Amino acid sequence: MTARNGATARLIDGNALSLKLRAGFADRAHHLAERGVRPGLAVILVGENPASAVYVRNKVAACEKAGIRSLRFDYPASIEPTEVFAQIEALNADPSVHGILVQLPLPPQFNSEAVLDAISPDKDVDGFHAQNVGLLAQGTPAFVPCTPYGVMKMLESENVPIKGAEAVVVGRSNIVGKPMGRLLLQAGATITVCHSQTRDLAFHTRRADILVAAIGRPRMITGDMIKPGGVVIDVGINRLPAEQGGKLCGDVDFESARQVASLITPVPGGVGPMTITMLLANTLESAERFAGRFSAWGSE
Ligand code: GUN
Repeated sequence: MTARNGATARLIDGNALSLKLRAGFADRAHHLAERGVRPGLAVILVGENPASAVYVRNKVAACEKAGIRSLRFDYPASIEPTEVFAQIEALNADPSVHGILVQLPLPPQFNSEAVLDAISPDKDVDGFHAQNVGLLAQGTPAFVPCTPYGVMKMLESENVPIKGAEAVVVGRSNIVGKPMGRLLLQAGATITVCHSQTRDLAFHTRRADILVAAIGRPRMITGDMIKPGGVVIDVGINRLPAEQGGKLCGDVDFESARQVASLITPVPGGVGPMTITMLLANTLESAERFAGRFSAWGSE
């Protein structure tokens, strides 16, 4: 990475990369169809969180386009958790379902970890089951969580050097921050994971060859917090208040950051589409594993 001298960063286009990857998925779905398998993903949404409703709608639409059958289960926020557990159990036992996703966050009466751990680890295409979290931590993942998986694909697509790089992740959620750190570590980066209690955030972010922002606070990372020539990955999807235009924006202040970074992801059109793309990839992968197991039994 070279220091910038007045130039602006190149964009990593998540829509373009998604299209490229999804073209390859059509072949895989076709091969599965030849073996009599149609990949199936079940999506469970509890409550009326508007952002979750949009994400679920986009996931279901992407499945249909990719030749993946989707089953959607919508429950009111007041639902008894036992009903959701019973549905998960039925889906675990259904051989036409290869992936099960429970959209987070769940309403307060739910123990989210217990719900995620009720999903069969073989169908856990989000990679949130304790067994899959453990496998990722050991460096032998079965399913990689979709958003950090998408980020790794974006870095790979641009040949960003990871071995020996200083990678700084801001945010320590189970969905993004923690698995992101583990993947970058596995790929050979020296990692720092910052969070709300980090004493001097800018001290850390300014050292980052690769900076991943997954905080959930609009435009928190500004250009002066970025290493000249660094690679900036913005995982945030925040809606600005109506009086500020109501637009979507990331956790990174794009206008100032692009003056400093060498590569940057936009919002929208960056990491967002990649999350859904990697969900499709994990569902296909799961269906392929099921098909492999089935043909192994058939040939005995
Ligand atoms: N909520 C926010 N991101 C995600 C995700 O990747 N998977 C699920 N299940 N819920 C989410």
